[in-house]
Order: sequence, then structure tokens, then C-alpha cells
Amino acid sequence: MKTLLLHDNEKDIEAAGEILSRGGLVAIPTETVYGLAADALNGKAVESIFKAKGRPADNPLIVHIADLADIERFSLVSEFPEKARLLAERFWSGPLTIILPKGKSIPDEVSAGLDTVAVRFPSHPTAQKIIRAAGVPLAAPSANISGSPSPTTAAHVMNDMNSKIDAVVDGGECSVGLESTVITLAVNPPRLLRPGGITVEQLESVIGEVDVDDAVLNELRNGEKAASPGMKYKHYSPKARVVLLHGSDSSYINYVNSHDDKGVAALCYDEDMSEITLKKFSLGGRDDSLSQARRLFSSLREIDGDSDITLVYARCPDPDGVGMAVYNRLIRAAGFEVIDLEKL
Ligand code: TXA
Ligand code: MG
Repeated sequence: MKTLLLHDNEKDIEAAGEILSRGGLVAIPTETVYGLAADALNGKAVESIFKAKGRPADNPLIVHIADLADIERFSLVSEFPEKARLLAERFWSGPLTIILPKGKSIPDEVSAGLDTVAVRFPSHPTAQKIIRAAGVPLAAPSANISGSPSPTTAAHVMNDMNSKIDAVVDGGECSVGLESTVITLAVNPPRLLRPGGITVEQLESVIGEVDVDDAVLNELRNGEKAASPGMKYKHYSPKARVVLLHGSDSSYINYVNSHDDKGVAALCYDEDMSEITLKKFSLGGRDDSLSQARRLFSSLREIDGDSDITLVYARCPDPDGVGMAVYNRLIRAAGFEVIDLEKL
């Protein structure tokens, strides 16, 4: 199949909507990462997302809307509690996904057999236009091959999905760069399943206590069940082995410089760059979690582009605020391998 490259103009948005409404697959830009979209109410179309990505069938998808009224109009949920209303009012449209008891229109392919559904209202204007053009809510996981870093540009999507899907709509670089925050309201107190651009502190300021699921910062123990099935997979990884180095600026720089080799790369803060002698890639500014979020996946993909690199020494970001999301993705890319430089 030839994958069309579309843009944000009237004719192309209409074409994207048309492909989606007849059950096709279109990759769409959002403020977080690019999504691989299909009609969320069409089980067969949703099934083809899993095929194109090579995604395990037990990992449910997020349903994207472009109007709060879509939730009721399409019977997406069976309950919309007060806390959902408060979160929607404050954070939608934006990078927050809310899990609720699922409504009768949600096919099993979307919820992967769970009795809940994840709903998100993206703020990217192009995403909103495409959802409206399709005339239905869109199920969309990140538009990468399962296991590889999520795409933050249309070129990343093409790299993974060319000839596997009907079209990609180019909406430029994603502004957040990491997937949305996922919170479930199907338990009490509400529980954060995946950190993202909306922080725990922001959520708590609106709905009070929020638990952070163990799997957000720690490795699941053998046989332990993930509340969010996506958390159990080794995710976001480039082909090279990634190791996080925990320690001060100088101990990081000394350690990586003493491992100078063409097979080794540093994923470091911008402030470290000038002192590092080996191949280096940016993990954003040291005290700037937002820039780290924007850079991370793109840098992991750049590293993938250099087939000589087999080992990456990454800085260990502070897990506060949006840093929790950066840490969560990077620790998975590293398969939880961390070296504490101060204890060497
Ligand atoms: O920012 C985003 O959320 C992007 C863009 C495209 O919107 N989408 C995205 O989708 O990251 P995906 O499929 O890569 O991640 C969805 C996550 C997975 O970890 C999945 O297990 C979890 O949400 N999830 C979805 N439905 C769920 C449910 N009913 N219960 C628990 N976890 C759920
Ligand atoms: Mg994903």
C-alpha cells in the first residue's frame, strides 16, 4: 500500500476524514506524540492498528474526541463522575487521558477486554480537525512500531509505518514530546498509571489525593499484573543498550569520557555537551524537564540512526514534575539498568 503524506489544508483534512470513516488508518499529529488513528467504533478498523504496529492484543487503546459532548453522543462511558468533570474542565483539551467505566459502543478491540475505556481530548488543532472530519471518535496508540520510541515528527512515522498505513498527516513537531498523562477514575482514590505533561501536583490541585501506581517508577516484579497493560512492556527503546548513570555533573562527564569508543554514546544535558569527548546526543537542559520531554524520543531515534552505537550512557533525570514522565520513559528504555556513580 502506498502511504499518502497529507498536510493541514482543507482538501487533505477531508481526505483523512474520508479514509478514517471507511475504516482506514491515518497517522495524526497531536500535542504529545503522533497517533495511529482508526474509527474507534469499528472493531475491524481498530484491529488493523494492532497489525500495523505489531502491538500485543492485550494492550488497550485511547479514544480521542474533539468535543466533550462526543462522550455522551457516542456512549463512550457508562459513568462520568464529578472528578472527571473537574479534570476535563481544567485540563481538556490537553495531554491528559482519563480512564472510566466503558460505555456500550466501545468494541472489545479498543478496551482489550477490560471493562474500562481511556478517553482523551487532544489540543492539537490538526488532530481536532481530523476527528471532526471523520465524524467519529478515533482510537489511536502512538504511531510507532510496537517497542520503539514514539514518533514526534511525521518523518519518524514514515520511518516506521511507510507502506503499512493509508496516510500520515504532517502537523509539524509535537510540542510536549511524550505521551499523555494517564489517570484512572475507575478506582478510589484515583490512580496515576502513566506520567506525562500534566503532573501529579496539577491533578491533585483539582481532585485531591491521587495515588501513583507502583509501575510508574519501579520495575514490575515477576508475575505482577500491570494496571496499565502498556507499562509492562520494555518500551521506548532504541536498538542499543541504554544505561542510566546517576550522579553529579562531574562524575557523569568523567565516567563517559573514560569509556570513549565509537560504539558508545552519551545522552546528556545540553550543559554537558562541550566537555564530552565521545558521540553525544541531547537530553535537553539540565533543569528543564519540558525540553527533556521534547528531546527524548527524537534523540533515541537519532541514536538508532547510527548503527555503530551499541551502548548509550544516559543521565538520570530528576523525577519531579514533568521530570517524572521523562524518568519513566528513560528507565524503561534502559530496562531499569542504573549505575550509581557515587557508589562506584
Ligand atoms: O499522548 C498519548 O496518549 C498518545 C497520543 C497518540 O494520544 N497515545 C498513546 O497511546 O500514547 P498508547 O496506546 O501508546 O498508550 C496508551 C496507554 C497504554 O499504556 C495502555 O495500556 C493504557 O494507555 N490504557 C489504555 N486504555 C486503558 C485502560 N482501559 N485501562 C488501563 N490502561 C489503559
Ligand atoms: Mg505507545
